[in-house]
Amino acid sequence: MLVWLFRGRLFALDEYGVLSPFMQAVTDISISMYAILGFFLLLLLLGMPNGCTATREGLLKAGFTNHAGEAPFLISKRKDSVNPDLTVWEFDPCGIPLGEWEDKRAEIETALNITIAKITWAEGRKIIRLYSAPAESDFPAMLPWDDKYLSPENFVLVLGQSLTGPVTVNLAHIPHILLGGSTGSGKSVLLKLLLMQSLRKGAEVYISDFKGGVDFSEVWHDRCHMCFTEETLLNTLDRLTAELEQRKARLAETGCANLDIYNSATGENLPRLIFACDEAAEVLDKTGRSKEDKELLSKIENRLATIARLGRAFGIHLILATQRPDANIIPGQIKNNLDFRVCGRADNVLSQIILDNTSAAELIPKDARGRFVLSDGTVFQGYLFNEEQL
Ligand SMILES: Nc1ncnc2c1ncn2[C@@H]1O[C@H](COP(=O)(O)OP(=O)(O)OP(=O)(O)O)[C@@H](O)[C@H]1O
Ligand SMILES: [Mg+2]
Repeated sequence: MLVWLFRGRLFALDEYGVLSPFMQAVTDISISMYAILGFFLLLLLLGMPNGCTATREGLLKAGFTNHAGEAPFLISKRKDSVNPDLTVWEFDPCGIPLGEWEDKRAEIETALNITIAKITWAEGRKIIRLYSAPAESDFPAMLPWDDKYLSPENFVLVLGQSLTGPVTVNLAHIPHILLGGSTGSGKSVLLKLLLMQSLRKGAEVYISDFKGGVDFSEVWHDRCHMCFTEETLLNTLDRLTAELEQRKARLAETGCANLDIYNSATGENLPRLIFACDEAAEVLDKTGRSKEDKELLSKIENRLATIARLGRAFGIHLILATQRPDANIIPGQIKNNLDFRVCGRADNVLSQIILDNTSAAELIPKDARGRFVLSDGTVFQGYLFNEEQL
């Protein structure tokens, strides 16, 4: 600009006019080059989100890089349209897989000074989308249940609140649930929360309670089918599997694909059946048992496996809660079909068994009660539900 502004003077120095055409050409060319370069630079700056370089440097310093030593590149950063308390960060992952983002969650949180609520893929697998809340945001120590949280949808059960909103499970899509966690983490309370909602929605609830009625008080005995011994448990499961076979035949006759379609096609109102077992490992553990007992337990296992395999279409569901879901206690053919996994406070090994990752050990503080994490890393505070509300 300066050269161009003062070109008159420059040319005036050249009194014989030898340099003038040359200078003229040089200024003209350099001015247009500067203009073009400047334009592209401006475009680049406009295209880069605020704090892009700082973000990258922060991640680099925290050691969150790919094998070539490059940190992910921030593509955009905006407020979430649904929940304005959240910020959505979109990254070019630079070849870092989602699992590694989950593993390095703590490092990323420190580097960017945020609390991560959720990490997902977006646009296929091109972009990593990270939902964050401000670093100081945290869960309340207690979230009392209120009837207004009950979902109107069939058959959606509400578990609690995460930083991104309510956490729900639709039994019509994911039929069976496994709740795990060490003692006192809040499994029984969460289980009862789910059963209470199932009752409200008109389901028939079957409960196996081998703790001698400590967890399920009289109120439950009036409303649910209770099993206190192994014999009644097997009986109940026999009834459930028989019902499953009957429903299978009826659905096949009418050509209906699942219970909801059957109910709306025939005008009948077959209820969903929920079988809940607190302390499932205590029930199924065969170590040190007599031969007859082992046979009985095998039968129980066998019925549970049938329901786990076939229950979805016929509206028969399992919710198992346990401190020890090891493969030698809860066999693979049952556990593999319990797709909705919830884990409370746990150590690395327990978290790995339940969620296939160690996030429960990392994300749940030792003193938290009723705090859980799902397999996708969503942390939530479960609603505290009081039995008088039943
Ligand atoms: N959602 C919650 N919010 C606040 N406190 C909770 C919540 N859930 C449970 N608690 C507290 O934790 C205590 C233990 O909960 P709970 O009996 O459900 O644990 P548990 O995991 O079933 O333990 P165990 O394996 O020994 O049976 C409860 O008495 C209650 O005080
Ligand atoms: Mg319990």
